[in-house]
Amino acid sequence: MPRNASPEFPTIRPRRLRRTAALRRLTAETRVHPADLVLPLFVKEGLTEPKPIASMPGVWQHSVDSARKLAVEALRAGIGGLMPFGIPAARDAIGSAATDPDGILNVTTRAIRDEIHDDLVLIPDLCLDEFTDHGHCGVLKDDGTVDNDATLERYAEMGERLAEAGADLLGASGMMDGQIGYVRAALDQTGHTDTGLLAYAAKYSSAFYGPFRDAVESQLQGDRRTYQQNPPNAVEALHEIDLDVAEGADIVMVKPALPYLDIVAAAAERSPVPVAAYHISGEYAQLVAAAEKGWIDKDAAVLESLTSIKRAGAGVIATYAALDAARLLG
Ligand code: PBG
Repeated sequence: MPRNASPEFPTIRPRRLRRTAALRRLTAETRVHPADLVLPLFVKEGLTEPKPIASMPGVWQHSVDSARKLAVEALRAGIGGLMPFGIPAARDAIGSAATDPDGILNVTTRAIRDEIHDDLVLIPDLCLDEFTDHGHCGVLKDDGTVDNDATLERYAEMGERLAEAGADLLGASGMMDGQIGYVRAALDQTGHTDTGLLAYAAKYSSAFYGPFRDAVESQLQGDRRTYQQNPPNAVEALHEIDLDVAEGADIVMVKPALPYLDIVAAAAERSPVPVAAYHISGEYAQLVAAAEKGWIDKDAAVLESLTSIKRAGAGVIATYAALDAARLLG
């Protein structure tokens, strides 16, 4: 009899289930699977070979050709999907290259679709910020503010081109009011009823987007606080999620992920459609930078981060570490 055994103090010992790796594996409540992961990738017009992104070690700006190869690698690794972003050679006030069928994102979408057929979910970004010379996610009014409703028309046209190019889902990341309903209607009216919408429903105006803006060579001066959400707000996120679901979102996403796990959990409880979370550029860069200094173990930190995002309730996780994670999990 252990010395402390008594009816008031039974030998309930949660540590028993932590003793061996096999016990821990059997009793794990959450498992990340490579199929849960979506790999974002950057494709730059005119590149002939991949170019490293300084603030995101391990992530590259791709040529169309190297993007095709990456897609094959992702398929072999068992990853669930790909999320391409385009970097055009020329930018203008309305982001013309976004709606040009020969624009970089449309060309990339066609090329990857060609390569992977229906074996991976292809989710090109539906937003103008990579294509505008001012770097905002929409077109501007004369006073320099973002024109919500004029932007919706640009998104509708861009969405149609991406649907024609072979997108499964469009990653609607612009945070314009009404964008999901407007693009849904435009897709339906042009016969693209099978093309879905992954709504960046709760996308916060975050300091962690910095490395992404390097990756897409963003021209943005200032910030996106008039359209992306204010970090202190949670009730507002639920309102945004409800609106996007009502407007026809097929998946709702919360972004960033780790600083907003409370929102991920609330979304998972509330949403009738699948919930995704985006482990963004700054979250990735922090891990890699600390690992490069020898301060943390990158592999362990990646797996712990992704597991936490899944535990909070996200069934789909967009992450730059998708290939690394797939290797570690496989
Ligand atoms: C906007 C968009 C952004 C990201 C994805 N889509 C950047 C922004 O809002 O400035 C950021 C993703 C990341 O940081 O990894 N089209």
